[in-house]
Amino acid sequence: MPSTAVVGLQWGDEGKGKIIDGLAAEADVVVRYAGGNNAGHTVLVEGEKYVLHLIPGGILHEGTINLIGRGVVVDLAALAAEVDGLVARGVPVEERLRIDGRAHVIFPYHRHVDRCVEIWRGEGRIGTTGRGIGPAYADKVARTGIRLADLLRPALFERRLHAALAEKAALISRVYEQEPEDHTELFEESRALAERFRSLIVDGASLLAEARRRGCRILFEGAQGSMLDLDAGTYPYVTSSWTGVWGIGGGAGVPPRAIDRALGVAKAYCTRVGEGPFPSELRDETGERLRQAGNEYGATTGRPRRCGWFDLVAARYAATLNGLDGLLLTNLDVLSGFDPLRVAVAYRVEGRERTDFPAEIDLLEQAEPVWRELPGWQEDLTAVRCFRDLPAAARSYLRFLEQEIGVPIERVSIGPGREQIFPGEHGSEDLWLS
Ligand code: GDP
Ligand code: IMO
Ligand code: MG
Repeated sequence: MPSTAVVGLQWGDEGKGKIIDGLAAEADVVVRYAGGNNAGHTVLVEGEKYVLHLIPGGILHEGTINLIGRGVVVDLAALAAEVDGLVARGVPVEERLRIDGRAHVIFPYHRHVDRCVEIWRGEGRIGTTGRGIGPAYADKVARTGIRLADLLRPALFERRLHAALAEKAALISRVYEQEPEDHTELFEESRALAERFRSLIVDGASLLAEARRRGCRILFEGAQGSMLDLDAGTYPYVTSSWTGVWGIGGGAGVPPRAIDRALGVAKAYCTRVGEGPFPSELRDETGERLRQAGNEYGATTGRPRRCGWFDLVAARYAATLNGLDGLLLTNLDVLSGFDPLRVAVAYRVEGRERTDFPAEIDLLEQAEPVWRELPGWQEDLTAVRCFRDLPAAARSYLRFLEQEIGVPIERVSIGPGREQIFPGEHGSEDLWLS
């Protein structure tokens, strides 16, 4: 049974939620391995919209175990709200959810520091989601973090929380010159939340090892996107975790060989939320039209997403890094009515054309896309259910991307609904068995 990773290839919001929901229908275990509630994964089921932030995307499927891996940073209050929201809609969350005890916890002071640091950065701000993600990962690496398992040990937790609060109060007041928040209730509140989830807290690595022994289908759910990756992305305008397949070993707790296949999700154009270089961005009316046509507003913060044409330089880079076996192209329907279409095939940097993805952030900021124009189409695609029924121009567009990236397009998505998806020209009938 193949274990499959699904990762974002761009700057997040590629439509991973929909793809993971589809694959999860036949998965035994779905695992989030990175990020936290900065993610927003939308799943549309018969007109009902679910936005998942921390809970893996198999939660809507009977018979799946959904593991929040040890590489995820968990805001317990946010998790409780998400669980309650799903339970209220009839989803038996507790049956299906597990949380790794080694996962680090996001506390309110992490959110406070997130806000302070963004103010401190001024013009250089990242435009974070404000969820405390960066500060929680920073504490983990600095070895001042607190893990979920620690919360179940009251004396240990009290000691570590006390130390963390003292340090954060000093940092917030003396460095950031802000008033620290009142945390007198934090110990009790966090303890109560941890106790609430006690029966769901597991050793994720053991759970996955056992699942592998039993030949279960494991789906590794990427959050964010490869271009937001801490190491591979447009640093420092990135998130604080390893979003690509390279994050799975550490973040889920499996040996790298446990990942049999990697699938990458990309939109048929590009979007980005927050600050940072985005070479193929359209700061004009066409960008605004893409935003309206794709309803490009963040699923987590509601911020308008920056929009641009498909970026082949970034896509090739991300596809290679992830060792992709297949590509899942979403939002093709949104491009209807845009004619001609453009794709960035290279960057012009300091007077030179290059097709590699530069590490230097200042060069990326100046990079001018080298465009390739392709004919567009007018037809609505949302009712198309197979590759050959696409307009000729849409087929050519997909063939061009497939050839240039060098990875087969396994699926083409032409709308948010579960049924609005079909195999690409070289896509397999069964995505799990391909
Ligand atoms: P994720 O973070 O990668 O899971 O993506 P988001 O859920 O943040 O954003 C993707 C948005 O696009 C959601 O509103 C989806 O319902 C929607 N979506 C997914 N696939 C398609 C598609 O093929 N066409 C259109 N028009 N919308 C899609
Ligand atoms: P999904 O899983 C899009 C962006 C933020 C900001 C940067 C750092 O839905 O694709 P952070 O709060 O993580 O420190 O912010 O990363 N970002 C995302 N953008 N989709 C996401 O997740 C994102 N998660 C973080 O907007 O630019
Ligand atoms: Mg999202």
